[in-house]
Amino acid sequence: MLHDNDEPDARRNANSAGVAVWSSTAFAARHPAETLDDLARAPREGSSGAEPIVEAWSIRSLLQSPPLSRLGRRVVIRSRTLRAGRQHTMVFTDSEESSFYSRCVKKFLLDAKSSSPTEITEFGSGDAATMARYLARSRYPGVIRGYEINGESHHRARKGIKEAGLSTRYIVKRADFFATRHDHRGALIVNPPYLPAPAPRLAMPELWGGPDGTRVVKRLIDVGFDRLMMLVASISDPIGVIKHARRRSYRVVDFSLITLPFGKYTLEPIVFHQIQRLASRGKALVRNADYQVAAVYFRKSVDGVPDRSQRLLDRMTCWCRRERAKV
Ligand SMILES: C[S@@+](CC[C@H](N)C(=O)[O-])C[C@H]1O[C@@H](n2cnc3c(N)ncnc32)[C@H](O)[C@@H]1O
Repeated sequence: MLHDNDEPDARRNANSAGVAVWSSTAFAARHPAETLDDLARAPREGSSGAEPIVEAWSIRSLLQSPPLSRLGRRVVIRSRTLRAGRQHTMVFTDSEESSFYSRCVKKFLLDAKSSSPTEITEFGSGDAATMARYLARSRYPGVIRGYEINGESHHRARKGIKEAGLSTRYIVKRADFFATRHDHRGALIVNPPYLPAPAPRLAMPELWGGPDGTRVVKRLIDVGFDRLMMLVASISDPIGVIKHARRRSYRVVDFSLITLPFGKYTLEPIVFHQIQRLASRGKALVRNADYQVAAVYFRKSVDGVPDRSQRLLDRMTCWCRRERAKV
């Protein structure tokens, strides 16, 4: 096995892609492996054989290496950075993403000039802190009705909203959004659980989005609000999500994009490895150690407003140097 004090040798052995390929002594004696390709070609070990180990020195090197899925079950990834991503957290905290989400809600809905305000429902308010700040700065005369399933997040949301003097403008209920009936005539706003993983064994299972990250997102589209402002992540089959929304008569009337570095949630090993698998099938769009998130403002069957779905997909696929995907 590779130990911490093996580090200098691992660095010396790193190949040009920046990925050091290791194998235990027994395995290496029979199959010296210089690159991930060598390792993929090497014959499978018998039941008594040792497991080869890949040590990646940076997320960038892992993402630039050949698809790890080709190596099958024989490889164990040992990356300091990946291990660092394994943190336990009960409340969603990502200030960059939350600010982007709240800013776009303000731009697309709270500041929209209309004679009658749109009723706004929110899926998954989290601790509601960022949204409360943006709501306080807006002239929106209506009420945001939020749903939050996580007890600690809900507790913090209620406390923060009360302290900000917004209790009559921002009401967050502790409930499963899907267990409640909703009036579809208003708008739904959501920064959804979109983390892809084979199973919900995450530090915060409420952020699980199914095997390809689209399970909750597609369910929310199916609920059928007239307006929907949702974050769509490039690591969770964005092409499939936009196509699904079009099949449900949604059009993209506006969008905004942000590039985010892999962070504590996406670096959790069960998530990170799934993103690798999805990327090798063109279902996750990543570039180096970054991914994109789009705040997408969908509306149902609006006449005279151009549909920007194709433009959104073009921007995302072009950013990660992928072939154009037709909506
Ligand atoms: C990505 S976080 C977004 C939090 C907040 N809106 C923000 O942007 O900072 C998603 C939130 O959805 C909540 N959630 C997940 N499933 C839910 C459900 N079925 N009903 C209500 N809330 C849910 C999670 O607990 C989590 O707080």
